Amino acid sequence: MLVLGIESSCDETGVAIYDDERGLLAHAIHTQIPIHAQYGGVVPELAGRDHIKRVVPLIRKVMQDAQLKLTDLNAVAYTAGPGLIGALLVGAMEARALAFALNIPAIPVHHMEGHLLAPMLESNPPSFPFVALLVSGGHTMLIKVAAPGSYEILGESVDDAAGEAFDKTAKLLGLPYPGGPKLEALANEPHADSAAYHFPRPMIDRPNLDFSFAGLKTAVLNAVHKSTDLEADKASIARCFEDAVADTLYHKCQKALDKTKMNTLVVAGGVSANSAIREALTSLMAQRKGQVFFARKEFCTDNGAMIALAGMLRFKAGERGSLEVNVFPRWPLSSLKPL
Ligand code: KG4
Ligand code: ZN
Repeated sequence: MLVLGIESSCDETGVAIYDDERGLLAHAIHTQIPIHAQYGGVVPELAGRDHIKRVVPLIRKVMQDAQLKLTDLNAVAYTAGPGLIGALLVGAMEARALAFALNIPAIPVHHMEGHLLAPMLESNPPSFPFVALLVSGGHTMLIKVAAPGSYEILGESVDDAAGEAFDKTAKLLGLPYPGGPKLEALANEPHADSAAYHFPRPMIDRPNLDFSFAGLKTAVLNAVHKSTDLEADKASIARCFEDAVADTLYHKCQKALDKTKMNTLVVAGGVSANSAIREALTSLMAQRKGQVFFARKEFCTDNGAMIALAGMLRFKAGERGSLEVNVFPRWPLSSLKPL
């Protein structure tokens, strides 16, 4: 069975084809980074307009790469939320129209469920149940995952998401959008000194599993203001900020695994592309003699492959979208029904 997946919730148009037996057959991504970089962040109206331009050529490309015809498809999955409404509507309208024309189901997919299941695209997929750490631009959550669709939120950020903290810190250091990967590159410069600053590890001594990154951002702001040579200091600031985030995630994951008595950790979302964070969580799971799973880096950030995979799971479980085009800019992950 073949599912086409379409992702258009923010600033990447992603399209992919997933086969339930052979796995991922083709995928393509178009990033809007150059469009939004000049404004320092995503401009929703420009995002929607660019998705309109890209979605059909990307569908043509993946169909050609996989050597398939549209009539071979069994369902079309699309990101129905959360995200920017004008951006979501493009993928939803395209998927709904295509499904109607082909007389096959359209399957609405929750963007964060897509992220969470992305490590299942790899050759060594995690098995259920597990604890998931979701770290993206808009969300930071620890989730107990009993099965696909069964998501119990154990803790989440009370203020900035981890990705947002990366992006805002990057901006303070004068780095262009998108900040996360640029900050990582700066932190990896040879002169970055990990002992130069000690930034707070917010809420790691609290018994709950919530996160807070606003105080860390303030600590970075103070370091920036105190610096008399920011050009020389900024690599060390980036390095110490990254270490503080990695350490915070390490301690919170440890608590979540202890609390749930589990020893399998799945890490997903854009920030899980960060090498320092991957290393910290890999070492946590090695110490615990447990297992950790990540998606390959290009599937950590937004992509169509994760939507095609999540859509396939929902399609096989008998889920079918209605003929209406519904998108949900806000949509709690915990409201999903187990498959
Ligand atoms: O999951 P994602 O692509 O989009 C959302 O659903 O939000 O995550 C994007 C976020 C951005 O904040 C970006 O700066 C961050 O992930 N990010 C990174 C890295 N790559 C992307 N943060 C730290 N290190 C990276 N290498
Ligand atoms: Zn995302």
